[in-house]
Amino acid sequence: MILVLMALSTAVVIPAQNSAKLNEELPAGAMQQKATTACLECHEARIILQQRLSKAVWTKEVDKMVKWGAVVDANDRDELIDYLSGNFGQERPEYNAPRTAHEKTKVGSTQQRSK
Ligand code: HEC
Repeated sequence: MILVLMALSTAVVIPAQNSAKLNEELPAGAMQQKATTACLECHEARIILQQRLSKAVWTKEVDKMVKWGAVVDANDRDELIDYLSGNFGQERPEYNAPRTAHEKTKVGSTQQRSK
């Protein structure tokens, strides 16, 4: 009985190691602080980190977010666009989303959704 209890308790205590960084930060740079303030007000950094956009598209994106309510000083707009397109341009390797699961679940032939 004691053995069973011990087995159960060790199974419950899951150490926080190997935890994926789910609250990611914007990359270091001159605009990091301002971008964090202006852009992470409504959503996580991840929505930005996963983009691979040209400068022209980042320009539209920033202007769209400003229209939606992002507070970007007019003097910072160009630098912010440079920061975003420099860090998240099309030449960057694909973004790998951190996940809580340790291994990716194979999606496909072997797995069926239950519903
Ligand atoms: C007023 C709230 C708000 C602020 C501030 C804001 N966003 Fe967004 N953003 C949104 C919403 C809402 C979406 C759509 C979210 C969704 O589809 O889940 C979005 C989506 C995005 C996307 C995904 C592509 C898209 O257009 O849907 C990117 C990239 C993005 N935002 C970048 C930024 C950047 C860069 C800033 C800072 C300049 C910023 N956001 C500030 C509200 C905001």
